Amino acid sequence: MSALSPETIAIVKSTAPVIQQHGVAITSRMYERLFVDPKIKTLFDEAAQQSGEQPRRLAGALLAFASNVDNLDVLTAAIERIAARHVSMNVKAEHYPAVANALLPAIKDVLGDAADERVLNAWGEAYWFLADVLKRREHGLYAQEGYSGPE
Ligand code: HEM
Repeated sequence: MSALSPETIAIVKSTAPVIQQHGVAITSRMYERLFVDPKIKTLFDEAAQQSGEQPRRLAGALLAFASNVDNLDVLTAAIERIAARHVSMNVKAEHYPAVANALLPAIKDVLGDAADERVLNAWGEAYWFLADVLKRREHGLYAQEGYSGPE
């Protein structure tokens, strides 16, 4: 995994205020796009019954990421919690592209012209950076459970 470039870090960080303002709209739109795929929707069904808070939690994670993209150490505890939750829901590496394909267009849907190509490219890179961190941690957790994941 290559580190994020200083330019990508600066662009993503500069979007923190709009993520703060529109984060829940973005993640709500993202779930609408994501749940078109019934295999993905099934993963969330049980969780959705437990809580209606998914868009809010994901928006919080995106905002924390955007705000701290230049100081990722502060996200260690959050990453650990998300990875544990993902493993409990059987999230696998192969699911990450679907979320990217739902999240990036959702950012565009909600932010419109404010999400120009520069912003979308930076978020695309940042998404895959974070996804790689999560996938690696989740792989380790599955291995501890005696399950050797798809990677
Ligand atoms: C970089 C990508 C991702 C981020 C930042 C992220 C973030 C989060 C966060 C913050 C939570 C709530 C954790 C908590 O309980 O506090 C969560 C839960 C969950 N995530 Fe992800 N996630 C990502 C990718 C994925 C992918 C690829 C899938 C599978 C399609 C997925 C499925 C789930 C499910 C099923 C839950 C449990 C439902 C819930 O508690 O809201 N996530 N994720």
